[in-house]
Amino acid sequence: MRSIAIFASGSGSNAENINSWFLGSPLGKVALILTDNPNAYVLERAKGMGVEAIVFSALDLKSGQVLSILQNRSIDMIVLAGFLRLIPADMVMAYRRRIINIHPALLPKFGGKGMYGDNVHKAVLAAGEAESGITIHYVNEHYDEGDIIFQAKCSVSKSDTAQTLAEKIHALEYAHYPRVLEELLSMMGAD
Ligand code: GRF
Repeated sequence: MRSIAIFASGSGSNAENINSWFLGSPLGKVALILTDNPNAYVLERAKGMGVEAIVFSALDLKSGQVLSILQNRSIDMIVLAGFLRLIPADMVMAYRRRIINIHPALLPKFGGKGMYGDNVHKAVLAAGEAESGITIHYVNEHYDEGDIIFQAKCSVSKSDTAQTLAEKIHALEYAHYPRVLEELLSMMGAD
């Protein structure tokens, strides 16, 4: 059984959805939720899920303290779900191809620093795109540049707003993120 740590900076609806999925999986479980935001709603969700949650600072992340926490708890896979900070190089190295992110657009378009949440959806609408979607990818030292694992698309209509587009994207995220993570775990093998 592999241990998953989820990093989230905000609401955490993906974190909750992933946790629910893995309650029924023999391959892995969500062992820890980490956030850089003491006010994040994901902390409330973690209580409801009965999953341990840790709040850390930007310095904890840079200094290697967060990495120590993960290693001390034998975390096998790191899942980013609405996490807004850059993952430091030492963590990327220690968990190479075991840190996964979801981006709410079709990378390589609409990625990079500052491209998160509604900023992404607004940029997609402003560009007049006919399609958007989700990208699940490995994390490297740069925002949104790691190898792509999976993409799914949705159509963008003229009447879409950032909010309606966000809803479509969330539906794709809930449908695919846990499933793809489970597939990745199965490729890691079980112990
Ligand atoms: C998701 O759309 C995710 O792709 C993005 O931030 C959003 C997080 O939503 N990077 P939630 O916190 O999981 O509800």
